[in-house]
Amino acid sequence: MKTGSSQSWDSKNAAAWLKVCRQACKSEEVFKVFRSGYPTTAVCEFAIPSLGEKYIDVIKRTAPPDFLKDIAKYKINDLLGLPSVFTFPEVGSFAPTTLSYVKHLVGLMNEFGDLTGFDIVEIGPAYGGQCLVISRQFKFNSYHLIDFKPVVNLAKKYLTVHGVINISTTPADKVGSLENKQYDLLISNSAFAENSKAAQDIYIDKIIKHCRRGYLVYNTAHFSDNDLVLPEMPYSAAVMIEKLNKYFEVRVSYDIPTPVNQPIITWG
Ligand SMILES: C[S@@+](CC[C@H](N)C(=O)[O-])C[C@H]1O[C@@H](n2cnc3c(N)ncnc32)[C@H](O)[C@@H]1O
Repeated sequence: MKTGSSQSWDSKNAAAWLKVCRQACKSEEVFKVFRSGYPTTAVCEFAIPSLGEKYIDVIKRTAPPDFLKDIAKYKINDLLGLPSVFTFPEVGSFAPTTLSYVKHLVGLMNEFGDLTGFDIVEIGPAYGGQCLVISRQFKFNSYHLIDFKPVVNLAKKYLTVHGVINISTTPADKVGSLENKQYDLLISNSAFAENSKAAQDIYIDKIIKHCRRGYLVYNTAHFSDNDLVLPEMPYSAAVMIEKLNKYFEVRVSYDIPTPVNQPIITWG
């Protein structure tokens, strides 16, 4: 789930999401349309055209000169899965969610410069749209995807069909057994932020504290204090920033309101 409700990750759409991921791995018919309806529209294919306009606005204001001229290369992310695409006067047809991935690519470039040769890890990549968009701009050394098993299986299939190489995966329930590998960059957009405090602590200990740079979209920052005290809910953004500040000097910027301001926590 993205912003807008006070439910943490597994409370609402999880079972249906895992089912569609499993089906899309097995069946080419489902793979062709997996982005076209519920539950994908609730989990990650959520953006509406008005949000797409806002993403274009941010891209125009913050991207390097000439970035927009070449934006068509990211349309590759709309070729599979039948997402809803809309025509935007300045960039042509795009799924608004793909534009969000392009906007985050620009955010990554502005924070960290050139990602060529990076070892990247992403927590909660869904079908791998952000990875595909990054791969059109930078030749990373490796990209590790951590999500539930059916989800990483789908991401692997999706990215392989698109010719993305140097991909590896770990199912979310095996994170505890990961050796403390160093990565150049951690990415998590609306995934780490949706997990329970216990799961977040495991991710910090096993992965995050070993990552030289980080880019976390903390989409649960608007949850109420009453909800956040529950153990199955995430840490508040303020507590998370304090925790991460033990390892890094973190920076906080604010994403466009979608529908509320969500912090992007970065370091490195
Ligand atoms: C709201 S979606 C965001 C997907 C993607 N990052 C994006 O921006 O479109 C949340 C994703 O996090 C995954 N997720 C939930 N809990 C997780 C966990 N403990 N470890 C890894 N991934 C998890 C879900 O399966 C889902 O793919």
